[in-house]
Amino acid sequence: MDANIPTEQGVAYINGEFSPLSEARVPVLDRGFIFGDGVYEVIPVYSRQPFRLEGHLQRLERSLEGIRLANPHTRAQWAEVIGELARRGPGEDQSLYLQVSRGVAKRDHAFPKEGKPTVFMMTNPLVLPDARTIGEGVSAVSTVDNRWLRCDLKTIALLPNVLLRQLAVDAGAAEVVLFRDGMLTEGSASNIFVVKNGVLLSPPKSNLILAGITYDVVLELARANGIPCEVRAVSEAEVRAADELWLTSSTREILAISKLDGGPVGQGRPGPVFKQIYALFQEMKSTLRHPGKTAHA
Ligand code: PDD
Repeated sequence: MDANIPTEQGVAYINGEFSPLSEARVPVLDRGFIFGDGVYEVIPVYSRQPFRLEGHLQRLERSLEGIRLANPHTRAQWAEVIGELARRGPGEDQSLYLQVSRGVAKRDHAFPKEGKPTVFMMTNPLVLPDARTIGEGVSAVSTVDNRWLRCDLKTIALLPNVLLRQLAVDAGAAEVVLFRDGMLTEGSASNIFVVKNGVLLSPPKSNLILAGITYDVVLELARANGIPCEVRAVSEAEVRAADELWLTSSTREILAISKLDGGPVGQGRPGPVFKQIYALFQEMKSTLRHPGKTAHA
């Protein structure tokens, strides 16, 4: 294994077997490798507890149905094996990845008549953005959303997202903000929120965006705490005139975008609504860690 691949602490699971991640192997004829024929989830684990597991498993079911692949496990079986991986994983907080591919078969685009899906999971330490990044926000660049029309499916065929993220990295930015036909969609691996005059705006769930679990949490927290929200189509002009812009994902939680295309977003630093939601999110996490404590949400 390449010494540059940081797998030392990772733990893997393939079709019922646990192993160190550095030892995990799948056959080259796996359709995940050949065609990107599979779906995935990334589940944050806090204090060894998978966060919003039901939501992730529900989305996994929708993705599997969308690619016409039978779910190899019941929800209870998934919960058990994910729980076991989180127990074996490195540290209290982890990033748990799972994918289901259409398995190993002779290369042919059409589905194999017989075959067994490959279930691969791994868990690694959860590396969240550092305090400075949270305090200052990140840069983003905008571009056209050139992905397919089933962005609601969390498929492992991520080449468009990979190219879009690299566009951001090449511009010294952390994420892209994507527009399709002049309307906001999302980022390469995150959902995007706008704040204007104290109102939180986000595009509705549709085939054009991934229904983020963190997106749901943010809207729940906002509604429970009296922050006005509008879930509706958001235009490029509204994004460019935003007071605040955020990105959300399981591995970055909530981050302010303080610069877009080189110019400041609002005051050019994380705004008051971001600070409020970020604090509420952290408070909710600490409640999960210490179940006796009650959150305000
Ligand atoms: N990505 N949109 C896209 C295209 C994503 O890939 C992701 C997550 C999100 C946010 O979803 P959630 O809040 O459920 O993480 C939105 C994961 C983290 C990834 O691919 O690594």
